Amino acid sequence: MKLGIVDMEMATAHHSVSLSALAHATNVDPNKYRFGLRQENFSMPALDEDAVTLGATAASRVLARTGKTAIRTLIFATESSVDQSKSAGVFAADLLDLSVNTRIVETKQACYAGTAALQMALGIVARNPQEQVLVIASDIARYAVNTAGEPTQGAGAVAMVVGADPQLLEIEPQTGVWSAHIDDFWRPNDLSTPLVDGARSLDAYLGAFTGAWEDYLAHGGAGLDEIDYFVHHQPFTKMAVKGHRRLVEHTGKLIDEQTVEPGLRYTTQFGNSYTASLYLGLLSLLHSDADLDGKRIGLYSYGSGATGEFFTGVVQPGYRRVIDSHYADAAINEREELSFEEYRALHAAHERGSKHDYQNPRVTRAPFRFVGVRDGARSYQRNTLPTDSGVISTINKS
Ligand code: CAA
Repeated sequence: MKLGIVDMEMATAHHSVSLSALAHATNVDPNKYRFGLRQENFSMPALDEDAVTLGATAASRVLARTGKTAIRTLIFATESSVDQSKSAGVFAADLLDLSVNTRIVETKQACYAGTAALQMALGIVARNPQEQVLVIASDIARYAVNTAGEPTQGAGAVAMVVGADPQLLEIEPQTGVWSAHIDDFWRPNDLSTPLVDGARSLDAYLGAFTGAWEDYLAHGGAGLDEIDYFVHHQPFTKMAVKGHRRLVEHTGKLIDEQTVEPGLRYTTQFGNSYTASLYLGLLSLLHSDADLDGKRIGLYSYGSGATGEFFTGVVQPGYRRVIDSHYADAAINEREELSFEEYRALHAAHERGSKHDYQNPRVTRAPFRFVGVRDGARSYQRNTLPTDSGVISTINKS
């Protein structure tokens, strides 16, 4: 029985920030970001967006195609958690009108949690093949300003329906895993932005990759020459290229960089999306011109702290009848660009706790919005009314 991704969709945030504007305003050579990180823009949420609204938006798009009657489990992967106790999935399920007979949980291990959710989903559908699992990976990568991580911010969500007889991608059972306790990137409970040891994080990412690759081979994985394309976790686009070069160095084999390039398009535009990043890369490959019928894709997932996993999927013949690049193209083109000053004001305005009540200005055009906090509880709604106008005025109203 084949198990895997039946269908998947994405969402990103309302705003974008150009890295050349950030570079100019902070006296950095724009080529550092353009060529050194291979980033053009990053997505930035409006005040009435968060990981729940992005995730629910991606999920509503995929469920519009698959329907939701077979969904009995929702696994929400995020490191932009909105509550220390309640799963972001509970808020999302309410917005999506999922049945009350749904099992809901949130997973966390930095950017790796989306893959943990996918593997758990495969386990559930292996036991009950008539059921499907909704996996949502949704994150807002928000770093402190004037740090090396600032240009690698971003936001995005991917929702996947996981089940038997997948029309999109069969996930093969062989997998390689690697974990170690490493302080490369982490976010203590009382901080809203992560602490990062940049150089260490690059080493940890690459070390976990070769560790996971060797474990994959030891567990009966396919040979290098049997893998047609690679998609890597992309904290910034250049990192995937670095990962690819490390594999070449590690195996001593020549692997064409064109096996990686088609998976890089979206991160260049959206920036880091933590748990969603690998799967946005997969969508970028599936939406590309490459003819992928029957092709095997190698997927490398990495979460700081650290866990890495390498696994493979086989694209199902006829997959083009399932996928639709409409939302991704719209997300790239329709974001409202912020000036540097607007971006920094919005960055500061996101710094809010739950001790005081507040209502968010109406900005996002997405199907769901984060209304605000009252008595410590977050509220969300379907987005039916027109938006307020003007970015700065909406920041000031908050
Ligand atoms: N023109 C062209 N290229 C230039 C340049 C210029 N004027 N100036 C610098 N560069 C190049 C550098 O040569 C370098 O390229 P290589 O890596 O290929 O050598 C690149 O630009 C970056 O330059 P620096 O190393 O000097 O950059 P930095 O010190 O500012 O930090 C970073 C880079 C560590 C990635 C930082 O952005 C950061 O801390 N990011 C957040 C952490 C992160 O994303 N880590 C990745 C692995 S961890 C992970 O994957 C989990 C996750 O999602 C966070």
